[in-house]
Amino acid sequence: MTDETSAKGLEGVVVAQTQLSYVDGQIGKLVYHGYPIEALARNASFEEVAYLLWHKKLPNKTELAALEEALKENRALDDDLVGIMSCLPKDAHPMGVLRTAVSALGASDPEQEDPSPEANLRKAIRLTACFPTVVAAWGRIREGEAVVEPRDDLGHAANFMWMLHGEEASEDAVRAVDAYLVMLADHGMNASTFSARVTTGTQGDMYSAITTACGTLKGPLHGGANEKVMQMLLEVESLDKAEAWFEQARAEGRRLMGIGHRVYKVEDPRATVLRDMSRDIAETSGDGKWLDIALRIEGLARADQYFIERNLYANVDFYSAVALYAVGIPIDMFTPLFAMSRVAGWTAHVMEQWANNRLIRPRGDYVGPQDQAWVPLDERD
Ligand code: CMC
Repeated sequence: MTDETSAKGLEGVVVAQTQLSYVDGQIGKLVYHGYPIEALARNASFEEVAYLLWHKKLPNKTELAALEEALKENRALDDDLVGIMSCLPKDAHPMGVLRTAVSALGASDPEQEDPSPEANLRKAIRLTACFPTVVAAWGRIREGEAVVEPRDDLGHAANFMWMLHGEEASEDAVRAVDAYLVMLADHGMNASTFSARVTTGTQGDMYSAITTACGTLKGPLHGGANEKVMQMLLEVESLDKAEAWFEQARAEGRRLMGIGHRVYKVEDPRATVLRDMSRDIAETSGDGKWLDIALRIEGLARADQYFIERNLYANVDFYSAVALYAVGIPIDMFTPLFAMSRVAGWTAHVMEQWANNRLIRPRGDYVGPQDQAWVPLDERD
């Protein structure tokens, strides 16, 4: 142990100043550049939020229309990328495919190595515009179906649903997906954002940073949790089995997915909105089975001393899973949807890091042996 500060998991360590979003984990508050998440979820489109994060101001009508247009112009994938994706194993996880696609997109962008603010903004728009196309295209390619081309008469969320299913989604479903995209676009110095900033800190290009972020988001303790939540609810199977399932999970010391958070010690404000949203969807569709199971599991956890003592509440992924499943998103596409949203925040952080960069290079606390004598290969045990 050295005399340097060591914080496992970097808990509580401040690594950068940011104007993008602020999380107060003690009172369950999240704001994007000062705007509360609840107001944004209720009123803003994803495109408005992307503008807010990239320009640190809400767009006026002209600015929003220009961004919407730019996003539409950058939605289509070129044939080479579709060719690369078509070569991947059909059972590849969509997050792995997305990560690979981002890397390939970088290789074919002549602006890849241009870190000017103007070029970085254009890359942010390109990446954000084509994430839904990549995700939806993979949904088709892996089923052996033709890729559905993007439409320029639909907004970001509606167009994604169109490309995924080859038919227009209901207004309620589009609004739910749009609100989801709004709510996950940024979240302080979360793991994937931090990893994007670390790559940027080396003066790595934006595509490298976003590839890094995709890999980090995929993990089950971060963005991958939403898929695990739905698998957990399916495993519970029915409301009458929830209590027995919970007791067994507790007895086995299992981690409940979608519960707990490094920063929030009260309920995640996005979970509150998503719970309400899931209620609305269940009411409209008349199918509240998975919501009821989720509510029961959450209720059991909230009444359990173990969860109470550790301040473990539902996080964003708990009710995201219920909401996304209800609007027909395949389970293994939940994390890619998270990425479709967070790419706006990642790219904003990349630009913020470039504007005031210093290499991010922490120390390790070396606890291994010292002064070992070299042993030739044929003398080793
Ligand atoms: N179920 C059961 N116990 C838990 C859970 C859980 N979901 N989360 C934390 N704990 C316990 C943990 O075992 C530990 O107990 P003890 O003090 O007895 O060792 C204590 O609570 C603190 O856990 P930790 O792992 O040190 O906390 P952390 O801040 O490092 O982890 C977390 C935060 C989100 C990784 C964790 O709560 C977790 O694994 N949750 C489930 C996965 C999940 O839902 N992840 C999504 C996070 S939110 C959105 C996102 O980032 O993408």
